[in-house]
Amino acid sequence: MKRTEIAEILKQPEIGQNYCVKGWVRAFRSNRFIQINDGSTIHTLQAVVDFEQFDEALLKKITTAAAVGLTGTLVASQGAGQTVELQVSAIEIIGEANPDDVQRTVMQPKKHSLEFLREQAHLRFRTNTFGAVFRIRHAVAYAIHKFFNDQNFYYIHTPIITGSDAEGAGEMFRVSTLDPQNPPLTEDGAIDYKQDFFGKPVNLTVSGQLEAELAALALGKVYTFGPTFRAENSNTSRHLAEFWMIEPEVAFNDIHANMDLAEEMLKYICSYVMENFPDDLKFLHDREAAEQQTKPQNERSEMGLVERLQFVVSNEFKRITYTEAIDVLRNSNHYKKKKFQYEVEWGTDLQSEHERFLVEKEYKCPVIITDYPASFKAFYMRRNDHSEVGRETVAAMDILFPGIGEMVGGSQREERLDVLREKCAAFHIPEEELWWYLDTRKFGTVPHAGFGLGFERMVMFVTGMSNIRDVIPFPRTPQNAEF
Ligand code: 4AD
Ligand code: MG
Repeated sequence: MKRTEIAEILKQPEIGQNYCVKGWVRAFRSNRFIQINDGSTIHTLQAVVDFEQFDEALLKKITTAAAVGLTGTLVASQGAGQTVELQVSAIEIIGEANPDDVQRTVMQPKKHSLEFLREQAHLRFRTNTFGAVFRIRHAVAYAIHKFFNDQNFYYIHTPIITGSDAEGAGEMFRVSTLDPQNPPLTEDGAIDYKQDFFGKPVNLTVSGQLEAELAALALGKVYTFGPTFRAENSNTSRHLAEFWMIEPEVAFNDIHANMDLAEEMLKYICSYVMENFPDDLKFLHDREAAEQQTKPQNERSEMGLVERLQFVVSNEFKRITYTEAIDVLRNSNHYKKKKFQYEVEWGTDLQSEHERFLVEKEYKCPVIITDYPASFKAFYMRRNDHSEVGRETVAAMDILFPGIGEMVGGSQREERLDVLREKCAAFHIPEEELWWYLDTRKFGTVPHAGFGLGFERMVMFVTGMSNIRDVIPFPRTPQNAEF
């Protein structure tokens, strides 16, 4: 008999109908009630076995985590907790699970810490929490593709191996086939990358933006969505060495259109998940609410997960300039009472304590900060015509979210060849390395803008998970590349 997924059965249960389900046993109680889950939904299906009908040796193999196929008739359930159940007429043991092995894993049916679950990332998919997280991760990815496709953007695949450092932060992973024990050397003793695979030093990309710009200057509206790599040694709950980034790039957009696009996209993602994955969302909402109960009153978040998503969808993001942000921070009681650890001064980058203050205390909503000083932003950002002398700013925009910090970083791009050349010189970027990027400014250059959304940070926001390692299947962080 053809297998039916549990999600499909529960969506439109047909009483009296025969079904075959295949999945993993979550529990087997009283030699009678099997809870089976197949990953298609957070819900289990209850299957009822008349133990007199089956061989005892067979029933013994129905243990937690075992894979089974169950065929039977769907009936209305007498018990509480489910409306329908499967009256089993045939059992197939597909894969046994040794109870002693199950004991030492996250599949043992009890509450496990997220740290323990991380150590068993190969098995944590089997838990309710991670089932929900990864179904929603899929939903976020799909919503992003749908959002852009519906607006006639083209999905561009930008390279993963690259010779350029788009962000200029120098946090790149080198890719090389040279023998590390015995690399070829030049006459002056340096490693001779001419003999390396690509004939020059190359790295894993930190961003697909520069290549996306090239495409946008012909196709109009494009986006990349791919893995990006950063060798920053920051062991925080919001940084990964390997993460996924969505980078739209739009010809003829200025910074304002860029902010509108980003805000619309973030709202769309939240709506999409609320509409299409309500069961997983409810599970994560309740999970977070329970966790909140264990925290002291003053550390609890004011809104639950679902309320936070609704709040983002139905409220405008606050837009302020960097200069305004500095004024707000310096005029705050928090500042006057010297509660900030880092200095608040025009010209220095905002620290996460400042960002959190603005988002969580001052405005209590997502905040877009624009027009940052040129000195600590990337070379490609457009120099503002309205900059004050000695206080040069660029058309940058960062979107900050409560509980997450920086969700999006973007800008209008420098489209003027002469200014871009000046910036390259100021940032010590050799023009030979970026000749192709500069070249596009020679043939019908136009204002254009784009941004990067950190995919995992968005998944954190939508799932309420507080550590980025818990929203990517196999996190890569300093000293950790297991699985
Ligand atoms: O602000 P970033 O560095 O911007 C860029 O890379 C631009 N090229 C984007 C563009 O304009 N096309 O990174 C963009 C976003 C950040 O706002 C953050 O959400 C995420 O990427 N991000 C990280 N996420 C996880 N781990 C890390 N180490 C991250 N670094 C940045
Ligand atoms: Mg940034």
